[in-house]
Parts: sequence; C-alpha cells; structure tokens
Amino acid sequence: MTTTAALLMRATLAHAHALAAIHAASFPLAEQWGPDVMALQLGLPGAFGLVHLGSGMVLARSMADEAEILTLAVMPERRRDGLGRALLLAAMDRAAQQGARTMFLEVAVTNAPARSLYTRANFTQVGQRPSYYPDGRDALVLRAALGGEGGRSGPLPLDPAKGRHPSEPDCWVE
Ligand SMILES: CC(C)(COP(=O)(O)OP(=O)(O)OC[C@H]1O[C@@H](n2cnc3c(N)ncnc32)[C@H](O)[C@@H]1OP(=O)(O)O)[C@@H](O)C(=O)NCCC(=O)NCCS
Repeated sequence: MTTTAALLMRATLAHAHALAAIHAASFPLAEQWGPDVMALQLGLPGAFGLVHLGSGMVLARSMADEAEILTLAVMPERRRDGLGRALLLAAMDRAAQQGARTMFLEVAVTNAPARSLYTRANFTQVGQRPSYYPDGRDALVLRAALGGEGGRSGPLPLDPAKGRHPSEPDCWVE
C-alpha cells in the first residue's frame, strides 16, 4: 500500500494551479490564494512547498534560524486521514534541514481542527493578532521548536494506518 507521506512532492511553479485548487476548496473566498499568489509565495527567499496532488499542500519559508508556515490545506474529502499531519511534519523537517530552529504560524481562534493539529505538533501560543482575517477573526501566533536539543522531541504519535513519518529518507517523490 502506498503511504500518504510517500506521495508528497516538492511543489514547484508548475504546481501553482494545483496548489490554488486545493486552497480554493479549503478557505473562504476572501482568504483564497490564486495561482499567481502561489507562484509569488514559492518565489520568496527560503520558500518551499510540498504537495500531495489533488489532496493537500503546504507552503513554508525559512530564513536563517526561523521558519513559518505560510499556508496548509487538505481537500475536504481527504481530511481526517493523516495528510495534514504528514504535510506539517514534513514542512517542519524540511525547515529544520534548512537550518531553522523555530517555526511560527498563524491560525484563526475559531479553527478548532487546525489548532488541534498544531497543538499535537508541539506548537504553543506566543501571541494574538486582533482582526487578522478579512472576516474579523483574531489570529493566534503559534511557535514550535524544530529539531535538535529542545526541538521537536515529541512529534505527533505515528499511526501506521495514516502514513509513516515523512522524514524517512525514501518517502519523497522528487
Ligand atoms: C487543518 C487541516 C489541514 C487538517 O488536515 P487533516 O488532513 O484533516 O488532518 P489530519 O487527518 O492529519 O489530523 C491530524 C490531527 O489534526 C486534528 N484534527 C484534524 N481535523 C480535526 C477536526 N475536524 N476536529 C478536531 N481535530 C481535528 C486532530 O488532532 C488530528 O489528529 P487525530 O486524527 O489523531 O485526532 C484541514 O482541516 C484543512 O485543510 N482545513 C482547512 C484549511 C485550514 O484551516 N488550514 C490551516 C490554516 S492555519
């Protein structure tokens, strides 16, 4: 059986439309990123993306010893099967490989599924941005340590039925 993590690919500019399609199915209209924004984000210094075609995607960026999740989305029909977890852990591992020691992200206070995912990946709240989203919701700023001493020491428990750990060396489709 092919695992979820085995199908994660590094996203390139050629995937801009595929990334935007996943995003469009996952966020309200005012928060959706089209192909042009996807391409712009991927072109930022230190940016990288991972995609499970037709199912999920994550964009992140690392600069020196800090990294951030830019966006993360899983198609509604593919949720609750470990893909969001696999994408997040893969992005954390990739950022750590690029030298980041800390990762940040923003999440809406009302986004219970994402908040649960991030909590289980050892993210903790370090700030709050009032009215951050177009509909007026606040964002929580979350932080997690990456790799090494004091780093991501207790990742989400791995469920064999939901894919293996994405940092295993043979699990990438390049
Ligand atoms: C958040 C999101 C990426 C999670 O993707 P997913 O593939 O369903 O997540 P997983 O199956 O890997 O779940 C991992 C953990 O997340 C949490 N989680 C996911 N969906 C949840 C839900 N509906 N309710 C509560 N917790 C949930 C759980 O802790 C879960 O672990 P468990 O399955 O062992 O209970 C997905 O719901 C999504 O794309 N949402 C819309 C876009 C979005 O909000 N992105 C994040 C912006 S910050």
